[in-house]
Amino acid sequence: MCPLILLTCLLLSTLTQAILLPAPPGSANVHITHFPLTDTSRVDPFAPCCDLPRRLMVTLYQPATCEQTETITYIPPTSAAAIKKVFSPYLPNISLDNFELQVCPEAAVENDLPLLFFTPGYWAPRVVYAVMLQWVASLGFNILAIDHPYDGAIVEYPDGSYVEYANVTIPDEILTLLAPRVADVSTVLNAVTNNTRWQELGVPVLSTERMAVFGHSLGGATAVGALLAEPRLMAACNIDGGLWGDEITTDNDRPFLLIHAENHPASDTSWDENWPYQKGPKWHLEISGTRHNALTDFSILSTLLGTNRTDPAVEAFIGTIDSVRLLKILREYIAAFFHEILEGTDEPLLSGPSMRFPEVSFRNMSSGGG
Ligand SMILES: *[C@@H]1O[C@H](CO)[C@@H](O)[C@H](O)[C@H]1NC(C)=O
Ligand SMILES: *[C@@H]1O[C@H](CO)[C@@H](O)[C@H](O)[C@H]1NC(C)=O
Ligand SMILES: *[C@@H]1O[C@H](CO)[C@@H](O)[C@H](O)[C@H]1NC(C)=O
Ligand SMILES: *[C@@H]1O[C@H](CO)[C@@H](O)[C@H](O)[C@H]1NC(C)=O
Ligand SMILES: *[C@@H]1O[C@H](CO)[C@@H](O)[C@H](O)[C@H]1NC(C)=O
Repeated sequence: MCPLILLTCLLLSTLTQAILLPAPPGSANVHITHFPLTDTSRVDPFAPCCDLPRRLMVTLYQPATCEQTETITYIPPTSAAAIKKVFSPYLPNISLDNFELQVCPEAAVENDLPLLFFTPGYWAPRVVYAVMLQWVASLGFNILAIDHPYDGAIVEYPDGSYVEYANVTIPDEILTLLAPRVADVSTVLNAVTNNTRWQELGVPVLSTERMAVFGHSLGGATAVGALLAEPRLMAACNIDGGLWGDEITTDNDRPFLLIHAENHPASDTSWDENWPYQKGPKWHLEISGTRHNALTDFSILSTLLGTNRTDPAVEAFIGTIDSVRLLKILREYIAAFFHEILEGTDEPLLSGPSMRFPEVSFRNMSSGGG
């Protein structure tokens, strides 16, 4: 496109100022790879016709260090416009254009790292968690973030084609979304544990010795469902996701972290109902000053855009907590959980309230046995 309208391109690129997203603190960063993954064994239940196979998009975050970072587009323009269309009625002045991530141009293959699967919320595709995932991964995890076609605002493929969300009604039809989502995690898990398959995708081979899953919102429910469906997953972390259907009352004996925003609606009783069914080591933590959608990148994006954080609509959507502080809290607690469970370290942050993070309250915890 650009050569035809070279002048316009040049003009636009000088007029639009890139906004740099913060790289994780410390010397470690990540390298990012996006790739499509088609599951020919499954017809996509939401595809409008033609028995099309389920076609996922996945992002691999690999920890990396580098002398010189490079900047890469945060969200490509078509996706940025679609996400903005869906979220701007709720979050004043949100824009996803012009942001850039600071990442490493390459990663050394480290085959001994734990592997985490990440599943995003309804409407919020994997790309609006990139900063949070970059910050978590840099602490020593390979992460595979998975898009669920037809429930993300948009899932865009490398050839520029895309699918937008199907109009299911929440909560009535939520289980129709959840089952394919859980199967999506299995699709990626089956691919990454099959070296032949994985190499066909052209993605670096990863260690699959120690695997776990986490997700936000409906992705949190997906993480719980995936843990129950996949014995190969060793733990799950639910970031502020209400639970749905049978997963609420199914026993789980593997480690479980529930970490959530302030003011979860009282009408959702799924966490209390589910708690006794969590029979293994478990933590229930709450982060004050946050709202449900802060636990995405919307908080840092709004701050960098200069959005008025005390505007009532903004406060209702992402809360008042400082967005860099929030990234730090999420990364420290999520990493502490997965380091302790997957690598056997003893993480002080999991032992109880910490003076380093007074925003985080321990609502409940148990080292096992219900
Ligand atoms: C869902 O509804 C919205 C708004 O009417 C529309 O723009 C969109 O194309 C619909 N999505 C699908 C997959 O039908
Ligand atoms: C592994 O992947 C290869 C290539 O896609 C496929 O032929 C094979 O059946 C897979 N193996 C298993 C156990 O799924
Ligand atoms: C923690 O959970 C248990 C059930 O597993 C419950 O009996 C107890 O009251 C909870 N503690 C708090 C402080 O909510
Ligand atoms: C949104 O932008 C308008 C125009 O710049 C500004 O007046 C308004 O205060 C902004 N709203 C928020 C919540 O930042
Ligand atoms: C931000 O929003 C609050 C609440 O609506 C308002 O009182 C304040 O004046 C706004 N600040 C700016 C800089 O617009």
